[in-house]
Amino acid sequence: MVVLLKPLRIQDAEAVVAAEDHLTVRWFSGGVSTVAGTRAYVERLMSAAEQRSTKRAFGIWVEGAFVGTIDYSLEVTDGLDPGDVNIAYGVAPWVRSQGVATDAVIQVRDLLRARRVGSRAAIRADLRNPASVRVAEKAGFTLLRVAPSTSEVDEAGQPVVFHIFVRDLRA
Ligand SMILES: CC(C)(COP(=O)(O)OP(=O)(O)OC[C@H]1O[C@@H](n2cnc3c(N)ncnc32)[C@H](O)[C@@H]1OP(=O)(O)O)[C@@H](O)C(=O)NCCC(=O)NCCS
Repeated sequence: MVVLLKPLRIQDAEAVVAAEDHLTVRWFSGGVSTVAGTRAYVERLMSAAEQRSTKRAFGIWVEGAFVGTIDYSLEVTDGLDPGDVNIAYGVAPWVRSQGVATDAVIQVRDLLRARRVGSRAAIRADLRNPASVRVAEKAGFTLLRVAPSTSEVDEAGQPVVFHIFVRDLRA
């Protein structure tokens, strides 16, 4: 299975919405997506990238089909150190557990190295989401620290506890 990353485009909005389920909402997007909202999000990303934003988002494609998104950003600071590039991802339910997210993370890590963005790639995983922890481990990331979030709370109003996995970009 060939996994390709392509910069996320406005015309991918329908596919982003179609690929979303309750797990995507809970662990990645943070809310139920709409086509209009996703188009606006991509537009905001594009204009921010023309300014100073380091955030870049990609569609994940498998055999010509859009199956998810992955993004990276140096601007995420909660739980991270300066130079850490946060990576976040979500893939459609119908392609899960086939190595797609792990492949995408490895490709983003290679891209960060090639573009010389940041010094460490980071994944902030919640232990209640074992699939994401497993992706970090399979992509060669190691646990750096466990840190309570300063910006996100769980259903009980308590800080989300991040398990922060990192992989050096300069080694
Ligand atoms: C997390 C997510 C992106 C993983 O995508 P994926 O393409 O299925 O990932 P991979 O196939 O590369 O690896 C998933 C691993 O988790 C394992 N896994 C899946 N569900 C699991 C569960 N409930 N408990 C334990 N392991 C689980 C899979 O078996 C696989 O491990 P293996 O290869 O050792 O068998 C996908 O589940 C998803 O989109 N979830 C919703 C959004 C999300 O959680 N994003 C992460 C925020 S950073």
